[in-house]
Parts: sequence; structure tokens; C-alpha cells
Amino acid sequence: MINCFCFVLISVLKTALSADDYYVAAVVEMPSTFVNVMKGEKRGPPIQEYIKLINSIDTELDIIVFPEAILDDGGPTPVPAPSTDYLLCNSTSSKYKDYLKELSCAALNKKVTVVVNVLELVNCKNPPPDEHCTRHNEKLQSVVHNTDVVFDQNGQVVARYRKWNLAGEDTLSILRSPEVVTFETKNGDTFGIFTCFDILFGTPALNLSKNLHVKSIVYPTYWFSDLPYLTALSTQQMWAQENNVTLLSAGGNSYNTGTGGSGIFLGEKGALVQMIIPSSGNAKMLLQKVPRSPSSDGVIVNNIDPDEVIDSLAAEMDDFKLNIDPTVYEHTSVPLNLNKTTVIEEICHGESACCKFTINFTVNSELMNLGKNTYTYHIAVFNGVRKFPGVRDVGVESCGIIACLNYSSTSCGQRFPKYSNVTWPITFNSIKVVGSFTNVVHKIQYPSSVLSSLRAISPLKTSWKKEVKVNMVERTHALVKPQSRILTFGIFGRDFSKDDAPHSYSSADLARFAGILLAIAMASFVKTF
Ligand SMILES: *[C@@H]1O[C@H](CO)[C@@H](O)[C@H](O)[C@H]1NC(C)=O
Ligand SMILES: *[C@@H]1O[C@H](CO)[C@@H](O)[C@H](O)[C@H]1NC(C)=O
Ligand SMILES: *[C@@H]1O[C@H](CO)[C@@H](O)[C@H](O)[C@H]1NC(C)=O
Ligand SMILES: *[C@@H]1O[C@H](CO)[C@@H](O)[C@H](O)[C@H]1NC(C)=O
Ligand SMILES: *[C@@H]1O[C@H](CO)[C@@H](O)[C@H](O)[C@H]1NC(C)=O
Ligand SMILES: *[C@@H]1O[C@H](CO)[C@@H](O)[C@H](O)[C@H]1NC(C)=O
Ligand SMILES: *[C@@H]1O[C@H](CO)[C@@H](O)[C@H](O)[C@H]1NC(C)=O
Repeated sequence: MINCFCFVLISVLKTALSADDYYVAAVVEMPSTFVNVMKGEKRGPPIQEYIKLINSIDTELDIIVFPEAILDDGGPTPVPAPSTDYLLCNSTSSKYKDYLKELSCAALNKKVTVVVNVLELVNCKNPPPDEHCTRHNEKLQSVVHNTDVVFDQNGQVVARYRKWNLAGEDTLSILRSPEVVTFETKNGDTFGIFTCFDILFGTPALNLSKNLHVKSIVYPTYWFSDLPYLTALSTQQMWAQENNVTLLSAGGNSYNTGTGGSGIFLGEKGALVQMIIPSSGNAKMLLQKVPRSPSSDGVIVNNIDPDEVIDSLAAEMDDFKLNIDPTVYEHTSVPLNLNKTTVIEEICHGESACCKFTINFTVNSELMNLGKNTYTYHIAVFNGVRKFPGVRDVGVESCGIIACLNYSSTSCGQRFPKYSNVTWPITFNSIKVVGSFTNVVHKIQYPSSVLSSLRAISPLKTSWKKEVKVNMVERTHALVKPQSRILTFGIFGRDFSKDDAPHSYSSADLARFAGILLAIAMASFVKTF
């Protein structure tokens, strides 16, 4: 018997919409089993939780999205090619793992689209032409992909996406060329799909939003948050906002490696709902009516968190281990001069990468003198290559106001250990960050912000603009309503031309796939991003 392990949160969207104007979606955040093993906790295989969650839903549902790197029961499995002729649920073939069959049956029984992420085993005997089945001139017997599988309401595999931008995951393989995958749900909504680290790259994420003009994305993920710019929920919001698409994200969670983060983000409107399991805990599901046209008049989303809410969410995150962007010490930065109330600065990294900051703030000296910790802000600009050690090097152009522990820039990107001993004497009345970027297809910029709750600031309190000038594009991210509790505010830009190539099989040792469950769990635990 499984006890109630999930909290189903149903928050009502304030809307005057009729049933045709929205679909119903669920996203699931689930703790990694590996963490439970480490903590000596007993837990059933994740597939049991998946099935239980699907069956627990007693409302009309279009789609449910599960995280990356959680469903590892029994090791890698072949995945049938998308087809309306084949039903795994009824299959007696021993080729496919049981968990895949159970998911097919659950989708069929509930008449719902189910999105999961698995390790996909591909036999190299008669390899499909797009597989890398040789390595160092040696023929491999099989390869394994990090694969998203989509079951439709008939339980049939309707889409399959092999993660293109692996994050480490040295034992996994990628195809010879990327897939750009979409699928449709029973009420005719089209979704694109990509996974985790893919969100930082052009292919295939931007092919979906910019080439195919897909308006909704599902995003199974297992994201390692880092400061200042790339905490999970902030990254999800900034991607959805810049691309102006709905993003349904489901995060695999492990607070002691800083992974997790799930939500439903409505393009330029920001979060409809979002969550991150802050410390050890059970799976959580967010179930929502999602407007098909978030920008229409009937849709009112108030996603401004009051200070008390930010504080209580932030206080829960003390044990959530955040990584630090290793280039943060290379940023050109100056501390914010608190003797002033308005600061206007142009900061450049190198000769040409410059951003202009106009910052108006109020300092509450009573709070400053409480004897608690207060963050010091730096105004920082970076243009270069950011390493994800052992994973990938990527081109970044960023500018922002970032929180540091003290006036030394070596303390930037860190948090004080105890939130209850932090005060926020600095309230920003307004911030304007303006950056100019060369106007080329291999660059994109995102509006970045992080509050102490590790959520982004609501777009209701900011503005995000683009002005194209001959060969340049000027981006302005502004805070237009007062806000304290800021860890980051600025622009996070990417330059794909400075990225190294997607990794595939750098040092693969296929013996590692010998079915040792823990080894697989550990590999995804350590390396998945
Ligand atoms: C497949 O299995 C489902 C669920 O048990 C059942 O309802 C259905 O009739 C079966 N379909 C076929 C074609 O055997
Ligand atoms: C994806 O977009 C990139 C950049 O625009 C382009 O080079 C590539 O051909 C596209 N790939 C696919 C599969 O559409
Ligand atoms: C975002 O998309 C909506 C339609 O979904 C559209 O009405 C709105 O104008 C778009 N915003 C921008 C800035 O393009
Ligand atoms: C701010 O004012 C104090 C007191 O007058 C002074 O000691 C300090 O150097 C000033 N700081 C800056 C950055 O100007
Ligand atoms: C700074 O913000 C405060 C509060 O909104 C406002 O009263 C003041 O005029 C602003 N100062 C400048 C120089 O814009
Ligand atoms: C709170 O922070 C202050 C300032 O850094 C420090 O002196 C004090 O020891 C801290 N108190 C606790 C309970 O951590
Ligand atoms: C600033 O904080 C860092 C990180 O905690 C610490 O190592 C350093 O000594 C501090 N510097 C000053 C000047 O307090």
C-alpha cells in the first residue's frame, strides 16, 4: 500500500474564460530516488508513484508531465517509434520494460497525454541510420539515449525526443543530427518538447519557438541551479518570457545538489504556478487550467509575491545547495555605492561589451543596523565563455545587479547560510539595465531576475524591450515597481557561436550499463543537467 505521498494543488485561474479557452495540465516535481537511498529511506519504485499520481486525478485532464532522470526502474528500455499501430499496453513483448507498458495503460485508461523521460536502449545490430553505433572505429552493441517519451490518450507512443544537449552524461549517446519534435493532445493543442540543458541552446529549443512558432512546450528537467543567473525557476521564466510561449516544466528534485524546479509559465505574463521542493519531501503535483491565449483580456494572472511570501519561501530554501557560476569572479564589477540614492553607471567588460545601469534605491538604515546580514550589490558585466566543468563551454553576454556577501566580488553568487538572519534594507525603486548586442541569429538575450525565494520577479513589475538598430539590438530590462529581496536583476545573453559542440560518448564505458541500477541513478544524479 502506498500512503498519500502527493499534494495536489489546484489553484483557480481568475478568468472569465469558457471551457474552449483553456486546457488542463499537470506538472510533477519528484524527488530523486537516489537521494532516498542515500538517506536510508524506503520508497517504492518511481513507476508506482507515477501510476498512482495519474490515477489520482479525478478531473478532465489533457496532459501530465513528469521530470527527467527519475524513472530508472529496471534500467534502459527500447522505445517503440511513434505509431498509431502499436499499443505497448497490450504488448507481450519482453523487449520493452514493464514500466513503459504500465505508462501506456495509464494513459489509455485516463485518456490523457503522458510525458515521461527514460533511458532509451538502442540495439546496434541493425542500427537506424541516424545512430552513432561506432566509437573509435569499434562497433558498439548498443547505445543509450536520454529520451522523452510521449503517450497519447490512446496509450500509443505519439512522440519521442532524444536529448540533444547532454550535460556530461558521458555514457549516453546523441543522434547524428538533432530532432525537432512536436505532438498534439486530444483537444488539438500542439506542444514542442525539449529537456533540461537544452533550454540554454538554440537547437532544438529555438527551432520550436522561432522556426515552427510552437506556442506551448513541455520540459522534463533535472536542473542544477546556480547563481547569479541560472536558478531553475528564473531560467524557465526568462525562456518562456523571451520566447513568449507557455512552458510546462517538471523537475527532478534533490535539494542537496540544488536540483528541481517545476511550473507553468505563460510567456510574457510569467508564472501561472511554480514550485521547488525545498528539502526532503514527497512528490508534488500542480494541476491547472492553462489558457490557450494567455494574452487575451479574460486572463488575469496576479503572480506578484508579497514580501512575507517571498520570505517564507526563501526561509525554506536554506538547505537547498546552489552552485555558483565559476566565471562570476571574471565579471567586471563595481559595488553599488549606498551613499547615493541614484546610481548611473556604464560598465564594460573588455572594450565593447558595455551595459548602462540606472538604479534608484532607498536604504532603510534601521534595518541596516539590526546586526543581521545584509547583501552588498555589485553591478557586473561579462562577455566570454562560461564553463560548465566537464559538461560544456557556452558563450555568455550578461549584465546585472548581483548580490554578494561583501564588497569583494569573490563573494558574489553566494547566499548567507541562515535566511532568518538576513535583512533587506535596500529597496530598489527602479532599475534600468540597457545592453547593446550585435543583431545576429546566433545570439539571444533573456530578462533575468532572481528573488531570495529563488523565483523570478513577476513581469507585472518589470518591462522587457527590444529595439533593433541597424546591426545592433538594444535590450532594456527594467524594474518599474519597488522591490527588495533581489539577488539578481539584469540581462542574460547567449552567444551560440562560442559554444563547443554537443557532446556524445566522450569517454563512454558501456560496461556501466550492465544493469546496475544504482550506477545509473548515480550517473544521472551527478551528471544530468
Ligand atoms: C488493450 O488493452 C486495453 C487495456 O487493458 C484494453 O482495454 C483493450 O481492449 C486492449 N486492446 C486490444 C486491441 O487488445
Ligand atoms: C535550428 O535552427 C538553427 C539556427 O537557426 C538552424 O541552423 C538549424 O538548421 C535548425 N535545425 C532544424 C533541425 O530545424
Ligand atoms: C505574445 O503572444 C501573444 C499571443 O499568444 C500575443 O498576443 C502578444 O502580442 C505576444 N507578445 C509579444 C511581445 O510579441
Ligand atoms: C560612504 O560614506 C561613508 C561615510 O561618509 C564613507 O566612509 C564611505 O567611504 C562612503 N562610501 C563610498 C563608496 O563612497
Ligand atoms: C527615486 O525613487 C523615488 C521613489 O520612487 C522617487 O521619489 C525619486 O524621485 C526617484 N529619484 C530619481 C532621481 O529618480
Ligand atoms: C547574524 O548575522 C550577524 C552579522 O553577520 C552575526 O554577527 C551573527 O552572529 C548572526 N547570528 C546568527 C544567529 O547567526
Ligand atoms: C567576503 O566574503 C568572502 C566569502 O565569505 C570572504 O572569504 C571574505 O573574507 C570576505 N571579505 C571581506 C573583506 O569581508
